[in-house]
Amino acid sequence: MKICIINGPNLNLTGIREPEIYGFSGFDQYISTLRSEFPDVDLDYFQSNIEGELINKLHEAGFETDGIILNAGAYTHTSVAIGDAVEAIKAPVVEVHMSNVWAREEFRHFSYISSAAAGVIAGFGLGSYRLALLNFLGR
Ligand code: DQA
Repeated sequence: MKICIINGPNLNLTGIREPEIYGFSGFDQYISTLRSEFPDVDLDYFQSNIEGELINKLHEAGFETDGIILNAGAYTHTSVAIGDAVEAIKAPVVEVHMSNVWAREEFRHFSYISSAAAGVIAGFGLGSYRLALLNFLGR
């Protein structure tokens, strides 16, 4: 099974950025942990701070993977174009957030992605990605 994790803006700073919200662990280390825990999954990982690059990656992964785990960061709440890309592709997308966006500022309560996503997981720190992966594995 081929799954792609796509992370949006500022998520390259996970572990450094606002650790009281996003935790103290970095994403590169977490990806290695996931790859060890799920050796049968071909797990691709892409991060960009640039909206168009995220869209290009959705177009690519959206036709050659079994599923996408997408944390579009702040673009979740602003990007019609990323929402349209999620609508346009074939692979199911699980929207994830490390924080519980509904327990935060009101502008984080709306997502341009959720209506096109297979599901939304939020509030479990890096564990949100693991839960999304388990969903694709049917566990
Ligand atoms: C986030 C929540 C977004 O509101 C925020 O802009 C992020 C991270 C999360 O993982 O909790 O960058 O997507």
